[in-house]
Amino acid sequence: MSDQLRSSNWFAQTGKLGFYHRSHTKSEGFPDDMFSGKPVIGIGASWSDLAPCNAHLHDLAQSVKAGIYEAGGFPFEFPTMALGETLMRPSAMLYRNLAAMEIEELIRSNPLDGVVLLTGCDKTTPAAIMGALSVDLPTIILTGGPMMNGVFRGETVGSGTDLWRFSEDVRAGVMTQEDFVSSEACVSRSVGHCTTMGTASTMACLAEALGLVPSGTSTIPATDGARRSAAQLAGRQIVSLVAKDLRPSSILSRESFENAIVANVALGGSTNAIIHLLAIAGRAEIDLELEDFDRLGLAIPTLVDLKPSGRFLMADFHGAGGLPALLSEISEFLHLGARTVSSRTLGEDIANAKNWNQTVIRKVDAPLLPPGNGSVVLFGNLAPNGAVLKLSAADPNLCVHRGSALVFDSIEEYNSTIDQEDFIVDPNSVLILRNAGPKGYPGMPEVGNLAIPKSLVKQGLRDMVRISDARMSGTSFGTVVLHVAPESASGGPLSLVQNGDSIFLDVPNRTLSLEVSEAELLKRREEKSPFNPDDSGGYVSLYRTHVMGAETGADFDFLRGRRGSDVPRRST
Ligand code: FES
Ligand code: MG
Repeated sequence: MSDQLRSSNWFAQTGKLGFYHRSHTKSEGFPDDMFSGKPVIGIGASWSDLAPCNAHLHDLAQSVKAGIYEAGGFPFEFPTMALGETLMRPSAMLYRNLAAMEIEELIRSNPLDGVVLLTGCDKTTPAAIMGALSVDLPTIILTGGPMMNGVFRGETVGSGTDLWRFSEDVRAGVMTQEDFVSSEACVSRSVGHCTTMGTASTMACLAEALGLVPSGTSTIPATDGARRSAAQLAGRQIVSLVAKDLRPSSILSRESFENAIVANVALGGSTNAIIHLLAIAGRAEIDLELEDFDRLGLAIPTLVDLKPSGRFLMADFHGAGGLPALLSEISEFLHLGARTVSSRTLGEDIANAKNWNQTVIRKVDAPLLPPGNGSVVLFGNLAPNGAVLKLSAADPNLCVHRGSALVFDSIEEYNSTIDQEDFIVDPNSVLILRNAGPKGYPGMPEVGNLAIPKSLVKQGLRDMVRISDARMSGTSFGTVVLHVAPESASGGPLSLVQNGDSIFLDVPNRTLSLEVSEAELLKRREEKSPFNPDDSGGYVSLYRTHVMGAETGADFDFLRGRRGSDVPRRST
């Protein structure tokens, strides 16, 4: 076996080169026989004190390590960029591609035969998958699990979702500032990612639906002993994947992505999943388009009663049977022959799954939301390359809506204006935010769910039509049109909208229209000065030069596709 192992190009070398590779590694305390042809497994842990959701991943890596040793492998833990959603500015999304690039290069440049990548917070899961797919060595993704359920004064409270609710309550004067602050530690009670079906939970579940996360593990709470045992089993499993040479390219197919899209609707998952799955498909060299998310989701009901669409939290979902139980409820919509890291098919993985709590995971004939409530994709002269709206988060009464535009060029301008006494806005206005896409902000931040102006909040209004080229948190809600493409900073029509223009949102017909004549728009385009960011160089300049549009996943143009694991040249 040792001859076939990629790592033998390092550790089985004779002479000066073999000495160089082994000698320094032995300084870490490894005996000679560790270098005698054992599969070398990297454990990439996106751990950091600055990424609280992932703070336990170094600990979890020790369980993976134990499993690798048990199966006869040689484990090496290495740190990968930890993208902490809650602290990073201007947006953790700005760094997803950087993390993916780092992970890809770390895997390729080192003597690894396979990897287990530990992820959790929103961007860390797609980044790890993107990087790993471009190298295409046997890979298992293991997520860190959700936090303990939040409880504030007897009420279940979920990450993000209840923050948005509480902050509106404070603005409306129905919650005190003191109560607001005292709820903080009650919402986030342990390590682990968000408890709601936000982006982290969504991407963990979708990575399992894709077949890259061991079946049944994506929902295990971070602090549950079962997560440690899952990690240990993942360590054993990666050694067997290396023995079988089972790579992501032979696991992932178009069908795997269709399964993930279907699962996302059944989960009531995040709009961010659209961007990440498009980027992941780009790495896997599988054709996937924005329209697929709308078309494939149409027949799928939403079954999981989790915030923000429903009531419960991830630990409840896990107790009900987790993703396998959900997938078994929607099995008629899935490609059960798709392959997974178990070396079996998805159908075999979920064959014995049971739904233990039909209040949390509903049945197809008694869903939380009927079919047609996933994310819809809108086109029109305001979004020639598409835009996205999450129906389960939207007010049905606003889904066919004509209103006049109130335009803001930045979120700062928006936030400093909306609570002013003399700011004139009515409930029918359409709030427009631009310059918040990938190039614009930069990094396409989650600012699309614009706060409702104070004067309207006080009247009890909690939703309005909002349109932007930004994203929104998977934990938030509202009639919010997102990911408008091309983005404003690339000269998309969003850049041409003026205050008072008529905007028509027509969800049943999937259109988003700027009701201004072509001639007028042409005139405005000629008069408009191009978006001119004040870049100071560095990574942001690289990002702005190479980031692609939201409609293809906002990856870098030069990172799409597979580059393999070959490194023909030696280091010394
Ligand atoms: Fe990290 Fe939500 S902030 S998962
Ligand atoms: Mg989030």
